[in-house]
Amino acid sequence: MRNKVTKAIFPVAGMGTRFLPATKSVPKEIMTLVDRPLVQYAIDEARAAGIKEFIFVTSRGKGALEDYFDHAPQLEQELRRKGKDDLLEILKSTNMDSGEIAYIRQHRALGLGHAVWCARRLIHNEPFAVILPDDVIAAETPCLQQMVEAYEETGGNMVAAMEVPAEKTSSYGILDVEQDMGTMVSVKGMVEKPEKGSAPSNLAVIGRYILSPTVFRTLNKMKSGAGGEIQLTDAIAQEIGVEGSGVYGYRFRGQRFDCGSKSGFLQATVAFGLARDDLKADLEAYLHEIMSTRKAAE
Ligand code: G1P
Repeated sequence: MRNKVTKAIFPVAGMGTRFLPATKSVPKEIMTLVDRPLVQYAIDEARAAGIKEFIFVTSRGKGALEDYFDHAPQLEQELRRKGKDDLLEILKSTNMDSGEIAYIRQHRALGLGHAVWCARRLIHNEPFAVILPDDVIAAETPCLQQMVEAYEETGGNMVAAMEVPAEKTSSYGILDVEQDMGTMVSVKGMVEKPEKGSAPSNLAVIGRYILSPTVFRTLNKMKSGAGGEIQLTDAIAQEIGVEGSGVYGYRFRGQRFDCGSKSGFLQATVAFGLARDDLKADLEAYLHEIMSTRKAAE
């Protein structure tokens, strides 16, 4: 029997400079998509995939993140008193039980691989998931759940994958495909942010991973890669060809939004707004109106 994936690491130590000035005092992960912070989407996806332990790798100035996951007894009491049961339920659904959640500090910004390495002592010798909350994925079956189901067949290491336009490959980890089986590909190489014109494919790694704890052996070496940072991609690449392990790319079903960019965040806001029964009609009418006014002006 394969070990179940019950732990997930959420690297949230980035400074979010692309969202300044907002991120001067608000952690990027707390920024709101419709009415929920980005990180809540990541947590919900992890839970749906069977994750029981949530490990956040944080940094200075992320206190609001810890507060967000704390219980809010006063607020709950007030809502109960006013009979606002619906809001009470929403609030309760965001509570994390004691011991379910852990925070580790990444003291220096040395890269994604280093951030994941910081959580090594909480992982022990089990497979684990990594979720980058910047990548928000709208999907009927949540992306990590799709991957966990596929992983039960393959084992090894699995990364979410998606084709990107050739001119965008230098922003991603890119897979060198060994065998393309449709939903799944086996991988013979991985390059983090390849220089223009040198990408082995246009199949990019998206921020969902299921990894074998053996990646820590490579991360322990603290070798820096692209951009002078310790890259997770490089550590995963070392797992290729390992007997009984290997690396797979998984083409998930769903739409990914790059909420690490302003344009991606805005697109996600519109898409998630349109998916909400309570907002759809108003938002649709508004979008329609501004688009037709703009067209008329042209
Ligand atoms: C990180 C990873 C990269 C991956 C990307 C997905 O890059 O290093 O391999 O393709 O996330 O969003 P970042 O966007 O943090 O620079």
